[in-house]
Amino acid sequence: MAPLLKVEQLHIGFGPLEPLAGVDIAVDRGRILGLVGESGSGKSMTAMSVMGLLPLMGGRITSGRVMFDGTDLTTISERDYRNLRGGRIALITQNPMTSLDPVMRVGRQIDQVAELHLKLDRKAAKEKTIGLMARMRIPSPEMTYDLFPHQLSGGLRQRIVIAMALAGDPDLLIADEPTTALDVTVQAQIIALLSELVREKGLGLILITHDMGVVAQTCDEVAVMYCGKVVEYGQVNAIFDAPRHPYTRALIGCIPQPGMAPRSLAGIPGMVPPASAMPAGCRFNPRCPLAIEVCHSASPPSVIEAGRSVACFLAEGESA
Ligand SMILES: Nc1ncnc2c1ncn2[C@@H]1O[C@H](COP(=O)(O)OP(=O)(O)OP(=O)(O)O)[C@@H](O)[C@H]1O
Ligand SMILES: [Mg+2]
Repeated sequence: MAPLLKVEQLHIGFGPLEPLAGVDIAVDRGRILGLVGESGSGKSMTAMSVMGLLPLMGGRITSGRVMFDGTDLTTISERDYRNLRGGRIALITQNPMTSLDPVMRVGRQIDQVAELHLKLDRKAAKEKTIGLMARMRIPSPEMTYDLFPHQLSGGLRQRIVIAMALAGDPDLLIADEPTTALDVTVQAQIIALLSELVREKGLGLILITHDMGVVAQTCDEVAVMYCGKVVEYGQVNAIFDAPRHPYTRALIGCIPQPGMAPRSLAGIPGMVPPASAMPAGCRFNPRCPLAIEVCHSASPPSVIEAGRSVACFLAEGESA
């Protein structure tokens, strides 16, 4: 069976800039795909592309496909997209306040999703909302239903946003740094809840994060992005056991280990280049400790082998 979502060779354009230049990812039902990479690597752009929200931002898909449950979403109308968004595909963003209406009671905001996408009447929607709030372990759901967003803590607001995302019975959930704004213990609780929901409801989840530790603990597959490309993709265990792209190795070197002094974090020297000044050849070559001549002139193709892929000339040599 085809995966729930398969993005193939996605390229997007914002005028002359190409923030995504070859993104291939797949996520299945009941699985969690981690999308990692430094700031500016194109994680949010990938999410926006799948959500069909690029036009709102002034961008467009220039080539590639976004196959969702058998349909290429790059070909559907905005009207069809409006039915999918918040329904079968839902997005959770970093800042819950951007998703919540400050002057509407939080319970009603959740109700409205089920009313719109599942055509539930107000009473049935409220019942569903209370159930979802309880599922999100929100204390006294009946009481919290009537509160306004500003009356809740950041962690509770994010739970409301997740309940809202679930209210349309989605098949695919995209969580873009859902816990970055929260403190560490609350982060861990939210990530644990999300992964329970995936197993229980058989959702596909794309979890966008900076945190390789979260990926190692939570995800089934991982796509490592750098400068608008997926440089390495595969099962989390395989990649953490034997990362093949120098960038992945550097990122894994950045995971703080227990007992390690914060200053001994490896860090990756250099900076992500701006979209307007991409280097020729492999986009990682200016920062790569292993770069050879070809890396400066040619873009490494993605080599796919046994369910994992890597785009690096050196990794190619390794497997030969
Ligand atoms: N609204 C926009 N218009 C044009 N280009 C943008 C816009 N937002 C981001 N970009 C560019 O697109 C590229 C990818 O950005 P994106 O926001 O997807 O990165 P990200 O991986 O989500 O980073 P972060 O970890 O900071 O959230 C960057 O080069 C960025 O400068
Ligand atoms: Mg982002």
